[in-house]
Amino acid sequence: MDAILQIRDVHKYYSTGAEPVHALRGVSLDVPQGQFAAIMGSSGSGKSTLLHLSGGLDPVDEGHIVIEGRDITSMSDHNRTVFRRRRLGVVFQAYNLLPTLTARENVGLPLLVDRAPMAEIQSKTDRLLDLFELTHRADHRPDAMSGGEQQRVAIARALMNDPAVILADEPTGNLDSANAEKIWELLRTLVREQGTTVLMVTHEAAGASYADVVHVLRDGQLIGSIDSGGQVDTQHVAGEYLRINTSQATAGDQVGVGEAGD
Ligand SMILES: Nc1ncnc2c1ncn2[C@@H]1O[C@H](COP(=O)(O)OP(=O)(O)OP(=O)(O)O)[C@@H](O)[C@H]1O
Ligand SMILES: [Mg+2]
Repeated sequence: MDAILQIRDVHKYYSTGAEPVHALRGVSLDVPQGQFAAIMGSSGSGKSTLLHLSGGLDPVDEGHIVIEGRDITSMSDHNRTVFRRRRLGVVFQAYNLLPTLTARENVGLPLLVDRAPMAEIQSKTDRLLDLFELTHRADHRPDAMSGGEQQRVAIARALMNDPAVILADEPTGNLDSANAEKIWELLRTLVREQGTTVLMVTHEAAGASYADVVHVLRDGQLIGSIDSGGQVDTQHVAGEYLRINTSQATAGDQVGVGEAGD
């Protein structure tokens, strides 16, 4: 069966600064349904760019991204927006909560926009607020919540539509280690029990170790991947990450070394 998320030879250029940036240089990646995949890479390696493109939030310059058999790179803006709202759950590095809405309203938003029945919205929202220990902050606006609380609201919102694919950019960047572990555990449970597919960007080996496979991005290219072997083993991931990065550094600018597959 084809992978639920197929990234095919994707390139992205930014030309806003003085020097154009070739942020993604031919990235290809398959994420099979029911896999928890992580992406690691140093700052500026293109992780957020790859995630934004996968969520159809920014156009690719070359290549294709196919999700559930549908090429989102050739959809109209409207169709892509609807597809994202119904089938994807996106957690941004900056939470992107709506500042004038409360936690409850932010979480419920995807179904409100889709005009789901009010009773369904309410019961799902309550369940998610409870799951993320946010019930006591349900009526707070983002500016009256801590960074960690806002981050949990953003994750809860991404789960509201029971997404087929969750795209998460540093979803635990503002959480302490105990709360971060809860989120990683939760993502793993969604994958195991509901067959959800997750692509998560993280700079932490501890987080990446919850994934089934870790893809390593460097200077806009995938340079290798780490198989978890079914274990949550931070040291294994940290060691392999270092090995992949240093072997690539000594290999110079060779293209296509150990390009990660599925
Ligand atoms: N809107 C933009 N305009 C110009 N350059 C950009 C833009 N967005 C990103 N870049 C550049 O593209 C490259 C990849 O950026 P990206 O945000 O994907 O990195 P990242 O791996 O997510 O980094 P971090 O770990 O710091 O979040 C960087 O060199 C960045 O400066
Ligand atoms: Mg980033």
